[in-house]
Amino acid sequence: MRIEFLGHACFLLEDAQTRVLIDPFLTGNPLAPIQADQVEVDYILVTHGHHDHVGDAVELAKGTGAVICTTVEVAAELFEPQGLKVKAGNIGGRIQTSFGSVKLVPAQHGSGVPGGLACGFVLEMGGEKIYHAGDTGLFSDLELLQHEGLDVALLPIGDYYTMGPADAVRAVEMIRPQMVIPMHYNTFSAIKQDPHQFKKSVEALDLCPVVILEPGQSLEL
Ligand code: NI
Ligand code: MN
Repeated sequence: MRIEFLGHACFLLEDAQTRVLIDPFLTGNPLAPIQADQVEVDYILVTHGHHDHVGDAVELAKGTGAVICTTVEVAAELFEPQGLKVKAGNIGGRIQTSFGSVKLVPAQHGSGVPGGLACGFVLEMGGEKIYHAGDTGLFSDLELLQHEGLDVALLPIGDYYTMGPADAVRAVEMIRPQMVIPMHYNTFSAIKQDPHQFKKSVEALDLCPVVILEPGQSLEL
């Protein structure tokens, strides 16, 4: 099981059979280490309808035949009219997939489409449980994720559009994952942050290791 950081909130998860791409913002992402046409993918997960998360999802799905997993309203607005393969769920529900499952969990953030909700994902894949928070502020129900027994949490630390580093430390306290990877920082000037400072803060509290991935770097689990 391998996690590759592709900049901003975009991660490629790969086990022996399947490649899952989350929030595929590659074109127009100044930190993207690869171009969208270099990605082979089976599933594309989209947390919400903002452009820095939808990214190349439509073109990638058209080119690869990948299945898009997202919420009902985001799917209806952005993906179903394009005739793409879609599995659209809703908050609290689990979507069964060929590699395992994707549970949609709450995120406190705009959806980017009329009437919809933004979400995060809990993936079961390759024997690991991985949480991608999407864009979210800090909220107390993050504590419920403690019961998921998460191996890895991918958390935004950029501030401005999402929680900043201090709130992200509080999120780690609530979620209690085995490991954290920070995301959604340094892509734009508004979200400039020092991930090393965040790492120090989390590790000073003895919460869990923080792994900082540069765009293009990956981690074997
Ligand atoms: Ni957003
Ligand atoms: Mn965002």
